[in-house]
Amino acid sequence: MIGLHPEGAKKPIMRAYSIASPSWDEKLDFYSIKVEDGPLTSHLQKIEVGDEVILAKKSVGTLVLDALLPGKRLWMFSTGTGIAPFASLIRDPDTYDRYDEVILTHTCREASELIYGQELVASLVNDPLVGDLVDGKLKHITSLTREDHPIKGRITTLLENGKLFEAAGTSILNPNDDRVMICGSMDMINDTKALVETFGLTEGSNSNPAEFVVEKAFVG
Ligand code: A2P
Repeated sequence: MIGLHPEGAKKPIMRAYSIASPSWDEKLDFYSIKVEDGPLTSHLQKIEVGDEVILAKKSVGTLVLDALLPGKRLWMFSTGTGIAPFASLIRDPDTYDRYDEVILTHTCREASELIYGQELVASLVNDPLVGDLVDGKLKHITSLTREDHPIKGRITTLLENGKLFEAAGTSILNPNDDRVMICGSMDMINDTKALVETFGLTEGSNSNPAEFVVEKAFVG
């Protein structure tokens, strides 16, 4: 949870955000949309160096590698700001130790929303910790739903029509090899989760690791 206590407000405004920086990093990155009249982001987008930001002491979440059984391939399905937790995981060497292949998908409405992920992935070859690991192991697949793009369509559509597997150069999902993490809006999660289940994957947790996990991307 992060938040602010705007001047004149009775109490702080707190919202759940995913930490986008890797677990080893000394600084914390957050990735957010800006909502003009949003209770938090209308203030958050105006903060300056030296301003106070409130950070909850404990971080919680279900998108952890320990909630997944070992496998060959890790898929990370994200929409919009749902890429944030994966921005963290793709910078963590542990991710590449556990899987032969890591595939990050990011689906947005418009091309401008893809830039954060595209710049981050492009920067990884020069990353001192994962630079050597990402080469040939990390694939980044982007799709758009409201503008032209080489791959068009929601992640659910791409899973259904097989275009996702064509783009990734893989076979379809199977419970032996594939592990999946899903992060987006509640509707995206529910719909994507239902489809992933049709491939025979089951939901895992820290106490009962299995083949996929989900997390809601909170916004505004
Ligand atoms: P679409 O443009 O067809 O609504 P949002 O900003 O609303 O969270 O959307 C981010 C991306 O997620 C958009 O590309 C949007 O597609 C897509 N999306 C929205 N709802 C779902 C859903 N239920 N399942 C899969 N993708 C979704």
